[in-house]
Amino acid sequence: MMQAKFPKVNFIGNKEKVNEWITSNFPKKTFSIFDAFSGGCSISFRAKQLGYKVISNDVLEINYHLAKALIQNNKFKLNKNDLLKIFEGEPKKGFIYRNYSEVYFYPEECMELDQYWLNINKNIKNSYKKSLAISLMRRAMIRKRPYSRFNILWKKVVQLRDENFSYEKYKRKRSYHNQSFKCHFLDEVDAYNNAIFDNNKKNKAMNKNIFDVIDKVDADIIYLDPPYPGTMNDYFGFYGFLDEFVAQKKIKPFPNNFTDRSKVIDDFDYLFSRSGNFKHLLLSFNSKSSPKKDIMLNLLKKYFKRVELLEKKHNYQITGKENKKTNKEYLFKASR
Ligand SMILES: C[S@@+](CC[C@H](N)C(=O)[O-])C[C@H]1O[C@@H](n2cnc3c(N)ncnc32)[C@H](O)[C@@H]1O
Repeated sequence: MMQAKFPKVNFIGNKEKVNEWITSNFPKKTFSIFDAFSGGCSISFRAKQLGYKVISNDVLEINYHLAKALIQNNKFKLNKNDLLKIFEGEPKKGFIYRNYSEVYFYPEECMELDQYWLNINKNIKNSYKKSLAISLMRRAMIRKRPYSRFNILWKKVVQLRDENFSYEKYKRKRSYHNQSFKCHFLDEVDAYNNAIFDNNKKNKAMNKNIFDVIDKVDADIIYLDPPYPGTMNDYFGFYGFLDEFVAQKKIKPFPNNFTDRSKVIDDFDYLFSRSGNFKHLLLSFNSKSSPKKDIMLNLLKKYFKRVELLEKKHNYQITGKENKKTNKEYLFKASR
């Protein structure tokens, strides 16, 4: 299988560093996988490279576009003519300018986003290319945000985008926050184009709440990498703005089933009980999260014949020093 390189996605909580470990533990004689919380697609991408038929799903639309561009898409890339069409014309006062000036970006930057959104929607007809353009615009927006997320107050953003302040305080200028969207987009376009390959499977991207579709999808393996209760896991807060950019309207946060520690056991029980279409279930988890491993093992044993727990040391970028030493990556592996 050709080895296309995974591009820079910068997804909080991604599994890039452990994707080899996780996918090397996929059970033998399996050919298809449902990545139910696909996020930045690092596991979907590795599975695609390994020749699996991949179905990727995420409740956030921006993650759906990423999966459509990199996983479902087997051949469409952005060419020079597409780039001309994406960046033509002048900045405009649109939805982003009116609602998010000095909330997420400076007013003139918001006008650029309005211009690019209009161009992508009007001028890029092929839906794979459109998802690819949206994914590159996503990465450009993330690159301009301190801490690569959208739940930082504007006051703090202004401070951190002040290169002198940032240098004096943190010894880092962070000048990339002040480079243009266009510059970031063009920097990465080759890497994203080169990440598109055909593994001769009909891969698919979905944009659903897993609680609505878990029993409607078929594959040999279901892989679960949910937000971890007890860690920083507000994915709507991190990335909801990107869905608003795509939809051009305000969006209510999706219900995050993984914040309430008292409900989370019932939620996992619900998901496991409805996973009958899959021979194998693999679940990534973290030693600091709730519920603890024995509870999870017992829950899985209700529905699966063979259940095991694999452990690996793994440092999360977003956790503090204390956590880094003791954090362990868990992979629960269950088979019928
Ligand atoms: C830990 S991240 C997945 C990271 C991914 N494995 C990667 O390597 O980039 C969890 C993902 O679950 C998604 N999510 C949260 N609740 C969901 C739900 N109810 N249904 C589907 N996706 C959900 C979030 O949007 C987020 O992208």
